[in-house]
Amino acid sequence: MSAAGAPLATRKTAPDSAAEAIHIENLHKKFGQLHVLKGVSMSARDGDVVAIIGGSGSGKSTLLRCINCLENPTSGIIRVNGEEIRLKADSHGNTVPADRRQIERIRSKLGMVFQSFNLWSHMTLIENVIEVPVHVLGVKREEAIATAEKLLARVGLAEKRDVYPAFLSGGQQQRGAIARALAIQPRVMLFDEPTSALDPELVGEVLRVIGDLAHEGRTMILVTHEMKFAREVASHVIYLYNGLVEEEGPPEQIFGAPKSERLKQFIRNIG
Ligand SMILES: Nc1ncnc2c1ncn2[C@@H]1O[C@H](COP(=O)(O)OP(=O)(O)OP(=O)(O)O)[C@@H](O)[C@H]1O
Ligand SMILES: [Mg+2]
Repeated sequence: MSAAGAPLATRKTAPDSAAEAIHIENLHKKFGQLHVLKGVSMSARDGDVVAIIGGSGSGKSTLLRCINCLENPTSGIIRVNGEEIRLKADSHGNTVPADRRQIERIRSKLGMVFQSFNLWSHMTLIENVIEVPVHVLGVKREEAIATAEKLLARVGLAEKRDVYPAFLSGGQQQRGAIARALAIQPRVMLFDEPTSALDPELVGEVLRVIGDLAHEGRTMILVTHEMKFAREVASHVIYLYNGLVEEEGPPEQIFGAPKSERLKQFIRNIG
């Protein structure tokens, strides 16, 4: 049974021949003196569900934010959709994007869902979902509405299409945020603790939507503290400790037979 109560099929790992959607090599990120990522490498092939776990401050959000170009790495390689993010040093020696248009192109391949349900409060739900397709990606309004209606139905919010976010529960807002992220037809979905700001009784409905996406074969990178859920849906689990990959492997290994003492301790504490 899933954390949401619905039975979930066993997740299959992407075939070896699947193309690499995300590739990260020796990624470093410093905030001033604070060395947060200390040489992280990882990849996600099409169809992979990579769960990133680790203690508070271990660098999970920073890693996701580097993939989505919300943070500029200090050094290392990030390829999204086969394209390496090009960076340059500015006049202060900080790393900045070399090509703004490339960043927009890369972001258009990534659907990001944050901890706080960040729907635009001045727009109805359906307006939220069609905003980027219509105004950034140039999709025709009628077409975007038809897609948005399907997506809202899929996350169980068909009847809320004309409601403003303030009138939705946290779980509904987060499901709306997932529909909005899906509306750009991303190659990869990035989730950063999508349920940790929710009241406990609302967690299940959001996990059920994410679990469905995982089982449909959608590629995703999921930062989560929901260990039971990660064990069910992930094809690969990465345990970050202090800015480094301490251990990684299939969920059965990470949760069933962890090798590292730190990971054992982490699982004991969180479980
Ligand atoms: N913009 C920033 N400026 C300075 N320090 C930052 C910034 N963003 C993150 N940090 C620091 O980097 C470290 C890693 O933060 P990060 O948010 O990646 O951790 P996390 O693993 O996501 O933790 P949590 O589980 O609490 O969300 C922390 O020490 C944090 O204070
Ligand atoms: Mg975080």
